[in-house]
Amino acid sequence: MRETSKRHLSKGKTIGLVPTMGALHEGHLSLIKRAKSENDIIVASIFVNPIQFGQSEDLDKYPRDMDGDMAKLKGEGVDILFMPEVKAIYPEGFSTYITVKDLSDKLCGAFRPGHFTGVATVVCKLFNIIVPTRAYFGQKDFQQTAVIKRMAEDLNMDIELIICPTIRESDGLAMSSRNAYLNPDERNAATVIYKALKTSSELIKSGNTNPAGIKKHMHDMLTAEPLISEIQYAGVYNIDTLDELNEFNKQNLLAIAVKIGNTRLIDNMPVEF
Ligand code: PAJ
Repeated sequence: MRETSKRHLSKGKTIGLVPTMGALHEGHLSLIKRAKSENDIIVASIFVNPIQFGQSEDLDKYPRDMDGDMAKLKGEGVDILFMPEVKAIYPEGFSTYITVKDLSDKLCGAFRPGHFTGVATVVCKLFNIIVPTRAYFGQKDFQQTAVIKRMAEDLNMDIELIICPTIRESDGLAMSSRNAYLNPDERNAATVIYKALKTSSELIKSGNTNPAGIKKHMHDMLTAEPLISEIQYAGVYNIDTLDELNEFNKQNLLAIAVKIGNTRLIDNMPVEF
């Protein structure tokens, strides 16, 4: 991979990287389309990164669809698929980790200790191996984009980060590889997440409430859905620090993490006040 990248870069070509864990859907493909429109060479990576999964999380059953993924990547005109083995990325003796302090402990980080260290470490490694000109990430994982931006700035990485909008199913559910875990009833119930975000954003736009009222509105909607087994967080957050807000700023982040059965789903929506 390094040799291939060097060859392209030495000819003055730009490289666009789309890092993924596979089980590709239209959300992933939207990043690839954007990368394709802005770079000479497109690299997609598929690597189910073990160190970003907690002990009781879904590493072993994370959906894998190699044939389907390859066909999709070919269809999008991806030039290079980088699909390393775990032992190539984490050989024996591996001992260097990147932790983006503070940001990594909020929201999802509070429920997934070590997750963002795993993400930052693997993304840093991918950047070092592939040396992309630009790298593409989805706003669906908003906190992930915040952590990666911070890492790139703090560590002087000369890579342009492009954040792309969340792609949704026709009923609003954010596309996610984990949606495959949902049975039909759970899939139906999952639409409440988007509905809670959308109605909250409408309430904010009509200017008649405060963050505490929005939080209550979200919790009321989510609690009313019996298949939601746990609300991990739901509320209004500072779009830069990810701290919960008592008063609206101009830019705000609405964010939700819930479990439906055993499936953990997240979504968010930036709103202006
Ligand atoms: P994965 O969940 O496979 O997602 C790969 C990229 O696709 C991420 O940038 C994610 O935000 C984006 N994405 C997922 N669903 C999306 C949607 N509905 N709309 C737009 N973009 C979407 O995120 C990861 O993998 C990993 O943490 C990774 C960055 C690869 C590091 O291991």
